[in-house]
Amino acid sequence: MTTLLDARRLAVAQLVAAGVPGAAQDAAVLLAHVMGVGRADLALLAPQTVLTAAQATQLAAAITARANRQPVSQITGTRMFWGRAFGVTPDVLDPRPETETLIAAALRVPFASVLDLGTGSGCILLTLLAERGAATGFGVDLSQAALDVAQANQRRLAPQAAVTWGQGSWYAPVTGRFDLIVSNPPYIAADEMPNLSPEVREWEPHLALTPGGDGLAAYRAIIRGAAAHLMPGGWLMVEIGPTQGAAVAGFCADAGLCDIGCLPDLDGRDRVVLARFTGDISPHDA
Ligand SMILES: C[S@@+](CC[C@H](N)C(=O)[O-])C[C@H]1O[C@@H](n2cnc3c(N)ncnc32)[C@H](O)[C@@H]1O
Repeated sequence: MTTLLDARRLAVAQLVAAGVPGAAQDAAVLLAHVMGVGRADLALLAPQTVLTAAQATQLAAAITARANRQPVSQITGTRMFWGRAFGVTPDVLDPRPETETLIAAALRVPFASVLDLGTGSGCILLTLLAERGAATGFGVDLSQAALDVAQANQRRLAPQAAVTWGQGSWYAPVTGRFDLIVSNPPYIAADEMPNLSPEVREWEPHLALTPGGDGLAAYRAIIRGAAAHLMPGGWLMVEIGPTQGAAVAGFCADAGLCDIGCLPDLDGRDRVVLARFTGDISPHDA
């Protein structure tokens, strides 16, 4: 017979012993998940509440997974992003809070159509469509497994949204022009990969993390193709790593885009490069 108090103590001890950072917090989140309550409501349960056998088994599996450094979001299967609970699996990047900087920027411009390159869980595209009810969207990913997660998220979070999903590399499956192109592409340089935490390096899809080399290859492809896929006056907005602003802004200038800017995230680090297509460039120049 395991009480909530005993289960929590044991879970924290196991995570501490495994060297997991934030052990107490993670134990609480996983225990709340197993008990079927929100994290904030865990404290409302009596400490002497007895776990069912199924709950005890599920908690043991969750703690073992976390001790093996699997991200909490993959264990619980969800991550909150812009107020919505997105389904997460090992096939997609765990939606990050810093990506909400891109959402905030996108919602400051008018758009009726949006293209999301490297959609992953669909967190960017589905959030924008949920916030702009009348807009239509196109989500692209090279990974069919990621697109399956995005489509499941659409069915749950934005069933009314008008979305086309395309499997392929960047613009390959895309037809038409858009008012807004957004992307959070893989941008970690090859030599930075060994420095990532085990949660990221060992559990998140390699394809979502790095294009190899200097980490800039995806920006080169996305920015080179932007003029051919934006409506005149349309915006391109890409998430960047904090040291990549000047390089990515330079690619935008080389592609003839205008009104180029760089926005910080809540930590004050460069996070989004944005640029506008005036419409004066022939797509053949891009
Ligand atoms: C950093 S993740 C971003 C996922 C999601 N948009 C987000 O912000 O959480 C990058 C995504 O780009 C996809 N990707 C990588 N290379 C690609 C390519 N050549 N064409 C299309 N998608 C690609 C990956 O599969 C991954 O889902």
